[in-house]
Amino acid sequence: MCELYSKQETLALRRRHIGPSCKVFFAADPIKIVRAQRQYMFDEKGDQYLDCINNVAHVGHCHPEVVKAAQKQMELLNTNSRFLHDNIVEYAKRLSATLPDRLSVCYFTNSGSEANDLALRLARQFRGHQDVITLDHAYHGHLSSLIEISPYKFQKGKDVKKEFVHVAPAPDTYRGKYREDHEDPASAYADEVKKIIDEAHNSGRKIAAFIAESMQSCGGQIIPPAGYFQKVAEYVRGAGGVFIADEVQVGFGRVGKHFWSFQMFGEDFVPDIVTMGKPMGNGHPMACVVTTEEIAEAFSASGMEYFNTYGGNPVSSAVGLAVLDVIKNEDLQGNATRVGNYLTELLNKQKTKHTLIGDIRGVGLFIGIDLVKDHQQRTPATAEAQHVIYRMKEKRVLLSADGPHRNVLKIKPPMCFTEEDAKFMVEQLDGILTGLEEAIGAETEPVISKNTPIKTKMPEEARSELLRDSSLDPRENPSRKRNGLCTDSLLSKRFRT
Ligand SMILES: Cc1ncc(COP(=O)(O)O)c(C=O)c1O
Repeated sequence: MCELYSKQETLALRRRHIGPSCKVFFAADPIKIVRAQRQYMFDEKGDQYLDCINNVAHVGHCHPEVVKAAQKQMELLNTNSRFLHDNIVEYAKRLSATLPDRLSVCYFTNSGSEANDLALRLARQFRGHQDVITLDHAYHGHLSSLIEISPYKFQKGKDVKKEFVHVAPAPDTYRGKYREDHEDPASAYADEVKKIIDEAHNSGRKIAAFIAESMQSCGGQIIPPAGYFQKVAEYVRGAGGVFIADEVQVGFGRVGKHFWSFQMFGEDFVPDIVTMGKPMGNGHPMACVVTTEEIAEAFSASGMEYFNTYGGNPVSSAVGLAVLDVIKNEDLQGNATRVGNYLTELLNKQKTKHTLIGDIRGVGLFIGIDLVKDHQQRTPATAEAQHVIYRMKEKRVLLSADGPHRNVLKIKPPMCFTEEDAKFMVEQLDGILTGLEEAIGAETEPVISKNTPIKTKMPEEARSELLRDSSLDPRENPSRKRNGLCTDSLLSKRFRT
């Protein structure tokens, strides 16, 4: 049975019983998904949507091998990890083999948030330091400890930045403080971290950790410049802190050539702690922290046991093993490279055609399309991005818009995404951007609000979504933006592979 209720009844029940801060995609006109397979999702009417959003259903929705592994183990045993069981150790062994040698000790959790919270505890226990350096616009999870280090969240709510949190500029060479025309953006951004460390020391504070996604996802698909992480790691370790790489969104082969995104930056960069989640269980809730023996020993020396009822249970571990098998057996990393390159090529062609496209950036099947109102100022085209995702939905393609200005279209589909899917997606996008650009040329009446300088007509649903959305930031400072286009050679300058 796919449906208990009609869509209207489901909506009404959701409004009544689910907390109002739990948002749905396309809030102005939500879709009800009742089943999914591979890279496709189906609504209650049986309409098929191409899923370009879902980096959780990593190896494809409801992959039969993953389902089979869960069911088989569920029929046999599921219990907590205080009993000896082969699945957890086999999974830890296989997972460690994907990482550099020194990252060999695993702690299993149930969500990326739990993993990051534990990573902070490990870091703080290691040298007894407290402070955390995080990147601007970062999101690391929903627990209190992580809202504190997630500017993406605390800058939008009523929370104030805690004194032990230090926010470094995001290493964004397109719209950030140092751009692609800077002679050494990696050093310039790393020096900002050094400055933060020095200032913290001057105030008697001590750095426990620097935490960053290997590529910022919610922050707007940001690829740090080559060499940045190495320099930051040196400064942070010099201060007695550790480097935490958050691979919750970007791990497990999404970038194609490498299993972990941090590996794109060269073999001379190895984090001290890596956290992972989302794709790990293909939809089954499982996550993990992997660290060094030294850090694990220091954590253990506190005398406090770490116990997590569900973390690494036999079923989760069986699921995790099946996911690893599918990635390998179906060459999904190779597919991410092939299809990702093809899609990037198609999108770069679109960039030459559409003035709304300011930048295409990404690696493998993790790609961002930065929509701008003008190439000169790089003014984020926030309302236009909302318009595009709603129109794409009408065309049966699911996309989201994110980044601090919510103007970056995010593409991070299941890894079985095909070249045909890429072509279809781009054709729909082309049509929508063409229509939108014509409308921008023809339409002069502002339709959002007096304060929002939008001159584009858009569907009522996208408009109301925007008005409802408190994340539209009126404080945005256009003076920080300069001209420039992202070229292929620039992309290769951003990281070493
Ligand atoms: C980079 C990153 N870290 C951590 C998390 C938290 O993971 P979870 O939602 O599984 O708790 C998320 C969730 O979106 C994330 O994007």
